Amino acid sequence: MQESDWAEVAREWAATPGQLNLESGGVQPVPLAVNEVFRRAWADATRLPPAELARVQVPALEEVRRRLAAASGFAPDEIALVRNTTEGLQNLLLGWPLVRGDRVLTTTQDYWRFQDGLDQRAAREGIEVDRIRLPVPLRDAASVVDSFVAALRPETRVVLVSEMINLTGQILPIAAIAAAMRARGVAVLIDGAHGFGHLTAQPDTFGADGYATSLHKWLGAPHGTGFLALRRRWIGEVWPLFPALASRREDIRKFEGWGTFAAAPFLAIPAALDFWRRIGPEAKLARLRWLRDRWLQACAGDPRVRLLTRTAEEGAGAIATVELRGQDPRSIAEALRVREGIFVRAIAHPEFRGLRVTPNLFNSAADLDRFAERLRFHLDAGG
Ligand SMILES: Cc1ncc(COP(=O)(O)O)c(C=O)c1O
Repeated sequence: MQESDWAEVAREWAATPGQLNLESGGVQPVPLAVNEVFRRAWADATRLPPAELARVQVPALEEVRRRLAAASGFAPDEIALVRNTTEGLQNLLLGWPLVRGDRVLTTTQDYWRFQDGLDQRAAREGIEVDRIRLPVPLRDAASVVDSFVAALRPETRVVLVSEMINLTGQILPIAAIAAAMRARGVAVLIDGAHGFGHLTAQPDTFGADGYATSLHKWLGAPHGTGFLALRRRWIGEVWPLFPALASRREDIRKFEGWGTFAAAPFLAIPAALDFWRRIGPEAKLARLRWLRDRWLQACAGDPRVRLLTRTAEEGAGAIATVELRGQDPRSIAEALRVREGIFVRAIAHPEFRGLRVTPNLFNSAADLDRFAERLRFHLDAGG
């Protein structure tokens, strides 16, 4: 597709004048067509009596479940509708059958909420948590698998790993990790927050035991939507965060027991899936990588900008993070926001600091050129 074709695609979102959003590493703007479906479902929900609501919207949610199953490769009875990755994974991490002395293996770069979840479980129940420190930038994918294997202990029962590290956009070789763990009888749970709707591999092909994602990120579904996939053999074994009747023990819907909720965001998921299919998952990912490389190339000769994301061998997607030598990324991000209306994210991790930049399909080549030029200006100015 030409730049003019992508300009057409960009018009599928409402633009906010004066704002250049390069922060699609967080929750994302929703395409107009998806918002319209959401708005209609919301209007219905807010005028119907409860029995009518249950008659109309609850069966429609089952269709959403089937659509997500078809898109992810899992069976419909392995898919729970949840509000986000956090809800999906905390169900697994806090409810997984573990006893005192059992160990969970993850990395120091996995999402902070899940570190908290595991630490809480360690404090309450005496499980142990081991964390691998991955190099930044990653040297190669194969050594990541070796690091996981080397860190296993006889008591390791579960591995938690991200499909893509949110801090740097680094894609991890999760299918190879899952295969290595399966061979050793260790369960694998995937944080797919940045994978679904962004990368193209179907989640069931990773061979993991559990997978959770947020659909308000890369799929462009309404905020507060996600799914949890759990292999059938585990459903009866995992305790849901909100207690469910014993009769529902083997039913994946036991993870959906959060009381009265808004169905409307979920009912717009099929529209978001259609939108993604219409653009084409491969075309979308290729465009995102192209936009990423556009600004990275513009900064390539600048000795103050060091790439923290390994982009070689399709190791990353839209997200890339750069270290700004001698500069505080927080003051540069703040200067870009206040002075330029450009939104990027300052990353502060105990092992590294940087500026995370995440283009999306509503961004143009000119946006990335402007960002690179303004970044250089503020580096010159010292924030
Ligand atoms: C890697 C990763 N995992 C999990 C989450 C949590 O996502 P949510 O807030 O949608 O639950 C995020 C959010 O940015 C993330 O980047």
